[in-house]
Amino acid sequence: MQQIMLICRPGFETEAGQELTDQAAAAGIFGYFQPGKNTGLLRFTIGGNEPAEELMRRVALDSLVFTRDWFALLGDCELPASDRVGAILAFLNDQGWQGDRCARLEVRLSEINDDRDLGNFARKWVAPLSKGLRGAGLLKDDPEAEAPVRLEILLTDFSTAVVGYSLAGNRSLFVGGVPRLRLPASAPSRSALKLEEAWKVFLPKERWLDYLGGGKKAVDLGAAPGGWTWQLVRQGMMVTAVDNGPMNPELMASGHVEHVEADGYAWRPKRAVDWMVCDIVDKPRRTARMAVDWMGEKLCRYTVFNLKLPMKKRYEEWLVCREILVQGLEDAGLHCQLKARHLYHDREEITCFIERLD
Ligand SMILES: C[S@@+](CC[C@H](N)C(=O)[O-])C[C@H]1O[C@@H](n2cnc3c(N)ncnc32)[C@H](O)[C@@H]1O
Repeated sequence: MQQIMLICRPGFETEAGQELTDQAAAAGIFGYFQPGKNTGLLRFTIGGNEPAEELMRRVALDSLVFTRDWFALLGDCELPASDRVGAILAFLNDQGWQGDRCARLEVRLSEINDDRDLGNFARKWVAPLSKGLRGAGLLKDDPEAEAPVRLEILLTDFSTAVVGYSLAGNRSLFVGGVPRLRLPASAPSRSALKLEEAWKVFLPKERWLDYLGGGKKAVDLGAAPGGWTWQLVRQGMMVTAVDNGPMNPELMASGHVEHVEADGYAWRPKRAVDWMVCDIVDKPRRTARMAVDWMGEKLCRYTVFNLKLPMKKRYEEWLVCREILVQGLEDAGLHCQLKARHLYHDREEITCFIERLD
């Protein structure tokens, strides 16, 4: 029985499972899942004879909203305290692991792990484990060599590991989908990290200047106190911040921000801007329709916005919103790319990115 380990925000296991079940079916592979228990981990089982790797070749991680990261499962490995490296080595040999396909390994922990000792152990274990596996021909000699897969070892505790592998080019840029971002003291709110993460997830690193540089213009709807506006200003943008609430005074002193006290859903700029971002917490369909309006009227080229999902039927609500977006953009005759992701810094909301391509 072939399985894939999905990693999502704890509490969103069902949404991650439903989504991959649908996407796998659309890619011609039947699969199912056992709803998890707030662990942020979910095992997805393939019903037929297709290898897990085949599903991961047919479905792009980028196309999934609720799965932040994933890897194909090899199995669970007991780790005796006397020789944990030896146990992994024997496990991989049993599995017929091909060391010439892999140059590196990652030791992971679940997001809900609160055992600091296990965290310390995981960090320190990478070097001796890599050395042991390399010595046994289970990893390439050169850790920097290109390789199609990476060995993934998820420590559930000191005595058990879930072992698997991820595919180069179809895994999260950040292990577990958790980017390590630092919040500078000058940021007006923690929300600032969310926009930074959205850019890191949605924009190719080598093209950041095209997307963000060159003194662009932006509108921030629901801007107060100004975390997102602060990120836009940091990129050198001139920002119109729309919110009835007060903006951070230091940010306003930058001279890059015009504060407009108005309803973000009704307000429109006189001239088109490069970016519209929206962090207003409201009905997701309303926000989706507004984003379509902005794109349809060509009021911006790029947009990042949040959709706050209801407590129940979160996946279904996303499907409705996605339809509003996809159909709306098509009806407007626009050629766009749409990406969406349940970011690490998101809670009950997901974050969408749209770029007009024509
Ligand atoms: C989550 S906060 C935004 C945080 C902001 N992105 C930051 O980084 O600091 C949501 C904001 O939306 C504003 N808001 C709610 N409804 C609005 C509306 N209809 N028009 C404009 N702003 C609205 C609220 O006043 C609140 O400041």
